[in-house]
Amino acid sequence: MTPADDQASPPPIAEAAAHLRAGRLVAFPTETVYGLGGDATSDRAVARIFDAKERPRFNPLIIHLPDAEAARQLVEFSAEARRLADLFWPGPLTLVLPRRPDCKVSLLASAGLDTLAVRVPGHPLAQALLRATGRPIAAPSANRSGRVSPTLAEHVRSELGDRVALVLDGGPCRVGIESTVLDLSREPAVLLRPGGVAQEALEGVLGPIAPAPTVEDTAARASPGMLASHYAPSLPVRLDVVEPLPGEAWLGFGPVGSARQPDLQLSETADPIEAAARLFAALRSLDRPGFGGIAVMPIPEAGLGAAINDRLRRAAAPRG
Ligand code: TXA
Ligand code: MG
Repeated sequence: MTPADDQASPPPIAEAAAHLRAGRLVAFPTETVYGLGGDATSDRAVARIFDAKERPRFNPLIIHLPDAEAARQLVEFSAEARRLADLFWPGPLTLVLPRRPDCKVSLLASAGLDTLAVRVPGHPLAQALLRATGRPIAAPSANRSGRVSPTLAEHVRSELGDRVALVLDGGPCRVGIESTVLDLSREPAVLLRPGGVAQEALEGVLGPIAPAPTVEDTAARASPGMLASHYAPSLPVRLDVVEPLPGEAWLGFGPVGSARQPDLQLSETADPIEAAARLFAALRSLDRPGFGGIAVMPIPEAGLGAAINDRLRRAAAPRG
């Protein structure tokens, strides 16, 4: 250690926590890879995550918590989940579990699903940040969409440096590949993504675990709109609608010239970040018996518009 290292200022945890509580994004190290964090209870902050990553679709995000107790406030813990959490948390294991009815996490963070992916990371800076923030933190890997996950603060700065309020530098990530994602909301459990905890280690606890179906398997079985992991309202959905039919709920985007006004606005000002933040809650609230269908105004593809339209096309796809 050089004298300069010796006197290096401590990591700015309090500042990072303040940014997160104000809805801004902070990149932080975990033992697997760096995460792009935002307040998981804020639709806006979560929309900003997708915007910063330039994700073409809203993949559900992992929710980071300081301990299993905090995770139990958000999801229904089964006996199996308890056993795995005891053995592997904190660590590189993510568990997908049913959301609790009182779960405060943004629907956008879990892409409208009834399940939530929760993880307790072990990295000391991640732990310090989670405790200082006092809120669940949604964080995908801190790379731009289509790039590999970052394992050094430098990777994050070069790809996303201009899009985050702060990058916490924790040096190289110890594990270096992403967490294992295990879906415990289904019986038997399904391994959705191999990662930092080996399948064998999990099978030592649970017995045999089914591997995730491949993309080809699922594509062969159903249209994209039918994939179990894709939220679709029960009412039929029509896109690019400038004149809704009688009885249809009309979901607006941007200013409307006609006499009929939308039943709900994604964004009065045609702001795709605001629209993304409201999307899943809006679909759920219009998906009710009083309406015969949901008609959505045209949304330009620019920015988060592409991800919004991807989800809407899935919601509107033929139901087989
Ligand atoms: O190591 C990691 O897991 C890193 C660090 C930052 O925690 N995060 C990470 O996040 O790799 P991301 O967004 O790149 O990958 C999250 C994975 C995706 O494969 C996503 O589909 C899956 O978790 N996932 C999240 N929520 C889910 C849910 N409710 N159901 C099924 N899969 C889910
Ligand atoms: Mg990733």
